[in-house]
Amino acid sequence: MGYCGIIDNLRVLPSSHARWKLFLICTMLCFCGYFIYYKFGDRLTAFPVRRASQGVTSDNNISRGLLHDKNDGDYAGEELEEVESDDGLGEDLPHETFPMMRRRLPQVIIIGVKKGGTQALLDYLRLHPDVVTAGGEPHFFNRHYEKGLDWYRNLMPKSTENQITTEKTPAYFITKEVPARIHAMSNLTKLLLLVRDPVIRVISDYAQDLTKKSNIPSFETMAFKNMSAGVVDSEWINIQVGLYANHLVNWIQYFPLKRLLVVDGDRLIREPAAEFSRVQDFLGLRKLITEKNFVFDTKKGFYCTRKAKEDYKIPHCLGKGKGRAHPVVRPELIQQLKKFYKPFNRMFYKIVGQDFGWD
Ligand code: A3P
Repeated sequence: MGYCGIIDNLRVLPSSHARWKLFLICTMLCFCGYFIYYKFGDRLTAFPVRRASQGVTSDNNISRGLLHDKNDGDYAGEELEEVESDDGLGEDLPHETFPMMRRRLPQVIIIGVKKGGTQALLDYLRLHPDVVTAGGEPHFFNRHYEKGLDWYRNLMPKSTENQITTEKTPAYFITKEVPARIHAMSNLTKLLLLVRDPVIRVISDYAQDLTKKSNIPSFETMAFKNMSAGVVDSEWINIQVGLYANHLVNWIQYFPLKRLLVVDGDRLIREPAAEFSRVQDFLGLRKLITEKNFVFDTKKGFYCTRKAKEDYKIPHCLGKGKGRAHPVVRPELIQQLKKFYKPFNRMFYKIVGQDFGWD
């Protein structure tokens, strides 16, 4: 019995030593071939995109989006036509030949808000086999825009044509230039915005600041210009982040509301499966992530995730930086903060058509 046809033919060779030498050469050639495919295979995988049913676009559409200016409307409906591959390679190759893994620009972006539960949402998305997520926070549209879309694309993990690529950078929501830039990449981008009661959010933000600089003034000193008169310091950036309506108006100039899902961050904490179900619907994902993927961890005080049956016994919880203890703030100051945010909250509810009951 030979190892393969080649080896069988090698039996005519004079010595077993020579046969082994040739066998080793064959094996090395196989490894080289595999290496070349692994390294450059993604260049050969630019096939037309078929994700219309999921309502998301591909890079090909994204680069088309670059040609549209801000007043151009959406492409008609959610239906996407098939488009030419962007590098012309691989068009004659059968689909089964390559796994079609390549880096793609995100079709979905978690734009904020900071401390809204953005890491939890990203973790939940990661559970889904049809989603890939960039690690960390790319900050492309607010900090690194001049580096260009190729730089950005390289931060994304490889994906198949049927997977959604996503990233999260909460600073996008409050950065004025970002909506126009995302729109220039693709006006079909889907946006996920997590919101939380702005009063809880600002305390959470402060709790995070405390872990970075322990000698900062108390929360009360930071949040109020005049504590006894109840005058909130609206210039403090942490307070400003919670003026959701003000930030949102920048986005709706570029994106219709149907491209934006406002996720209730407070509900995502209490009922992750139910709130995440809305996300799956919005993204056109198969409803694979359900109650069975979440387990409440009494020690952490939050839900943790379990991906599949194999790891049902070892749920994954977010790290220490998520679910921190908050400083205790006097109830009358909480009331002052609620009063301050109320008109902005009302405006926000009106724009998005949902009352979050924060006041
Ligand atoms: P706290 O740490 O103040 O409680 P972000 O990821 O946007 O920075 O948001 C952090 C917040 O996510 C946390 O704020 C926490 O309340 C919330 N959160 C939501 N789901 C969570 C989970 N499963 N585990 C830990 N924190 C979660």
